[in-house]
Amino acid sequence: MAEVIAIEGGHKLNGTVVVSGAKNATVALIPATVLADGPVTIYGVPEISDVDALGVLLKELNCNVALEEDTLIIDPTHLENISLVSEAVDKLRASYYLMGALLGKCKKVTMRAPGGCFLGPRPIDLHIKGFEALGATVEFVNGCHVIEAKELKGATIYLDFASVGATINIMLAAVKATGRTIIENAAKEPEIIDVVNLLTKMGANIRGAGTDTITIDGVESLHGCDHEIIPDRIEAGTFLVIAAAAGEKVIVQNVIPQHLEAVTSKLREMGTKMEIVGDSIIVYGGLDNLVATDIRTQIYPGFATDLQQPLTTLLTQASGCSQVVETIYPERFKHCDELNKMGANIEKCDSMAYIHGSTPLTGTSVQATDLRCGAALVVAALIANGVTEIGNVYHIDRGYSNIDQKLISLGARITRREID
Ligand code: EPU
Repeated sequence: MAEVIAIEGGHKLNGTVVVSGAKNATVALIPATVLADGPVTIYGVPEISDVDALGVLLKELNCNVALEEDTLIIDPTHLENISLVSEAVDKLRASYYLMGALLGKCKKVTMRAPGGCFLGPRPIDLHIKGFEALGATVEFVNGCHVIEAKELKGATIYLDFASVGATINIMLAAVKATGRTIIENAAKEPEIIDVVNLLTKMGANIRGAGTDTITIDGVESLHGCDHEIIPDRIEAGTFLVIAAAAGEKVIVQNVIPQHLEAVTSKLREMGTKMEIVGDSIIVYGGLDNLVATDIRTQIYPGFATDLQQPLTTLLTQASGCSQVVETIYPERFKHCDELNKMGANIEKCDSMAYIHGSTPLTGTSVQATDLRCGAALVVAALIANGVTEIGNVYHIDRGYSNIDQKLISLGARITRREID
């Protein structure tokens, strides 16, 4: 059974929405816990299906996993390093963090290829090169990566691209290696810092997180600890766009405003009024007088690729031609076809899209082809005339915690039903 959500557009949103813990930090923090020799408690865990899939994998590894509300306690004391070949590996991209974590802990991991959203090619060559630089051998046998090392030894690793996944995976493999590992051209996303904060509380010795050089001095053992996840800057950015499009006065609470500077400055450029008060951003929304702007996705602190898709929907409501250049995932434009079905006028050309606005949107049946495409369609549905039915909702549920309830509490009209 699959689910669709139906959204009746045109209802103005008002009120407060509280942002959940960051998905892209959570999906790395959970695998990282297997490195500890005792229980790790994580607070602020979002209610998303990626967390459920990681829970399944940890239970397969004989970890004790207890989730109560948004607190997750993982006890890896009796870990059994079995081959990870179940479907849960396929359900999310981030299952690959168990490669680094299990390699770091047990010096061996066997795991089928990770899944996740299709955004064009998503190689993991930089992760593999990092593991090899630390002394591991990597083979691909019967659809599984088999990665093992007699000993992991610190090394200097230069990343050709500042990959979030490769930076985290190499850190996980290196925290218990002998000697010093230096990752050059490391990713600087806030989620990297969150993972380093957890590892540091576990007893790791890491410096430079948030800069492009991370230095790790290996330690013999890591212990349990408590950790609170940072707020999700992508969920927050999505709600800022939703509020700009469909809101009157919406308060987006539990944000770190510095993490959102790229998106707030673009929204201001388009004409949206906002105020920052402590850990909240108050958005005064409305589609009148929005003007076109150009965006270029970049690594942090540049404009996040994950927010390119929801912002594209808002750009359909701005007068003039906006240009979107996608430098991280050049094929991340499937939402444009769906938006065009609703009346948008978007031309795609290589890794660029030209959005000709403003165009009224009309509810119809569309498909969430990936997580952030789903977010882009939710924004569109909220401002469209009539009802929009969004299929493949499971993509949205992978990354947005309680999105239906959060929107309904702001005044949106949303229902969900199962279809064959
Ligand atoms: N790349 C390589 N080789 C590698 C790794 C990456 O060529 O070994 C390339 C990728 O193909 C891509 C670019 O480098 O073109 C960026 O990839 P990166 O490794 O930084 O991304 P990721 O770790 O796979 C994470 C998030 C994505 C987010 C990107 C960019 C997680 C689980 N996923 O992916 O989140 O778009 O960083 O910030 O953290 C999402 O939340 O919707 C999402 C897709």
